[in-house]
Amino acid sequence: MMRVAIVTGGTRGIGQAISLALKDAGFSVVANYAGNQETARAFTQATGITAYRWDVGDHEACIHNCNEIAAEFGPIDVLVNNAGITRDATLHKMSFEDWNEVMRINLGGCFNMAKACFPGMRERGWGRIINIGSINGQAGQYGQVNYAAAKSGIHGFTKALAQEGAKSGVTVNAIAPGYIDTDMVAAVPEAVLEKIVAKIPVGRLGHADEIARGVAFLASENAAFITGSTLSINGGQHMY
Ligand code: CAA
Repeated sequence: MMRVAIVTGGTRGIGQAISLALKDAGFSVVANYAGNQETARAFTQATGITAYRWDVGDHEACIHNCNEIAAEFGPIDVLVNNAGITRDATLHKMSFEDWNEVMRINLGGCFNMAKACFPGMRERGWGRIINIGSINGQAGQYGQVNYAAAKSGIHGFTKALAQEGAKSGVTVNAIAPGYIDTDMVAAVPEAVLEKIVAKIPVGRLGHADEIARGVAFLASENAAFITGSTLSINGGQHMY
């Protein structure tokens, strides 16, 4: 039977590439999305991958929808916590809401989804959790105390949960993408982005499928002995 994989934020950007890479790798993939229904519909039409809409920052919604997905597709074997938002501003301009929303969705989403999926993986003795962190959670970034804190939190969360899952065949790893050519990065002011790209040794932005290939590897049998690790995919921008 095909293993079931769920990708949060799985219909756009890096998440879309991850959904496709896991489908190509032979998983039965379900994508979650929060807002953009039109894009999600087009994604499902083009790929045949079912998309479910809910907010990963909503604990009850995560439990409810994961139960529905398990009933429809089978137990969830692979969880990719990819959903995330930015609310960039320097601290003196950042509102409490900007802080809270990023923590609630980017970091809280990982907890909510793990609560929904991890117990079943443990019981069945096999599972893969892959959390999408960020170079900015490793190195910090001007104008991102919220995002950097949440992403840094994801790296700690990964190492803690990896210790809990190891005995039960559940690996928990993170990928720390650098600057990838997605809508999120396109929203960075052009002049700021030019300076950032100038500091990437490889000399360009990354592509979403370059992250997705890392996820597919970590989800595979070949990665069974890798847990609690962070794979940095950033063109050499930060060597960690
Ligand atoms: N280091 C030091 N100083 C900096 C700086 C930096 N990296 N960036 C900006 N500054 C300085 C500017 O030079 C400016 O100084 P002066 O007033 O003396 O000229 C001052 O800070 C104010 O800068 P801005 O005019 O840019 O301020 P702003 O309030 O208009 O915007 C900002 C601030 C929203 C943070 C904007 O700079 C910005 O968007 N920066 C990009 C943040 C970023 O990289 N986000 C990543 C998004 S993608 C992502 O997060 C995905 C991922 O995982 C990698």
